Amino acid sequence: GDNLLAVAQNHDQPLEGTCEGQMACSTCHVIVDTEFFDRLPEASEMEEDMLDLAAGVRRTSRLACQID
Ligand code: FES
Repeated sequence: GDNLLAVAQNHDQPLEGTCEGQMACSTCHVIVDTEFFDRLPEASEMEEDMLDLAAGVRRTSRLACQID
């Protein structure tokens, strides 16, 4: 199925996703609702590294392209 980035874009959410899921940007950064966050598989080390570069990161930040 579509990842969260694709779903958001299909619903006219202004998420850039410049690298189209290659984990080479952080323009798909989203802050996830705590309840939903706790149900997601943990972020990979690569995703964490990209998130470190994103602006306004919070505890529940994720890259939307990595959420299926
Ligand atoms: Fe670039 Fe998600 S689209 S990291």
